[in-house]
Amino acid sequence: MTLRSDQRRWGGVAKTFHWLMALGIVGAGVLGLVMTGMERGMAKLNAFALHKSIGLTVLALFVLRLAWRFFDRRPADLPMPRIQRITAHAVHGVLYLFMLAIPLSGWIYNSARGYPLQWFKQFNLPALAEKSDDLAQLAIGVHVWLFWLLVVVLAAHVGGALLHHFFERDDTLRRMLPFARLRATPPGDAP
Ligand code: HEM
Ligand code: HEM
Repeated sequence: MTLRSDQRRWGGVAKTFHWLMALGIVGAGVLGLVMTGMERGMAKLNAFALHKSIGLTVLALFVLRLAWRFFDRRPADLPMPRIQRITAHAVHGVLYLFMLAIPLSGWIYNSARGYPLQWFKQFNLPALAEKSDDLAQLAIGVHVWLFWLLVVVLAAHVGGALLHHFFERDDTLRRMLPFARLRATPPGDAP
């Protein structure tokens, strides 16, 4: 697997970013929903700390991923109707936006509440805003709403990938999976 993407498939770096961040986002989301319903105590505090650390990791990976995206090329779109192509690109744009806005709104909420913030107990991070009840309410509203919107957009994203894989039987999913062989033979390579 080459590190850079080429005309036909995503490279190792883009795939690693994609799947690592997908894992982090799903993990932070599930933990977020579980932790808010927990009894007060050490376990809850630890769950909050873990949630924030995973979320901050997603934010850091987002910055690196975006930088790589500008340096790397994107594989050419596979043949599909124009409207499908436009929708897929729009969904990707929204996903990038949410990958930034969800952790950032969590960080702003944490700051506006005046809570401390650490990354896996390794180092402290600064507050992004002064203490403010109004800002805290706004930020947590944005955090939770964007999360549920993300769930909807992700359903379309994952549904689209699975439709391509099982019904169109093209390489959309395979070229994002690690170690998968492509089905189609590139033009010119046919025997
Ligand atoms: C990909 C990243 C993240 C996702 C998907 C995510 C998702 C969630 C979800 C689903 C909840 C539960 C909302 C509810 O039902 O009330 C939540 C709560 C929370 N999140 Fe995040 N979050 C992320 C990152 C962060 C970050 C980076 C921070 C802080 C630095 C943070 C701070 C919080 C806090 C403090 C709460 C609890 C709010 C309360 O007490 O009700 N989150 N998050
Ligand atoms: C939190 C979870 C996920 C997020 C945030 C996410 C985000 C993204 C983004 C932003 C892209 C566009 C990459 C670019 O053009 O730079 C992408 C591509 C892709 N994603 Fe996801 N994704 C997630 C989960 C999944 C899952 C679970 C699947 C499979 C079932 C999947 C399948 C794909 C495929 C196949 C592509 C490549 C599309 C193409 O080559 O045109 N993603 N994803």
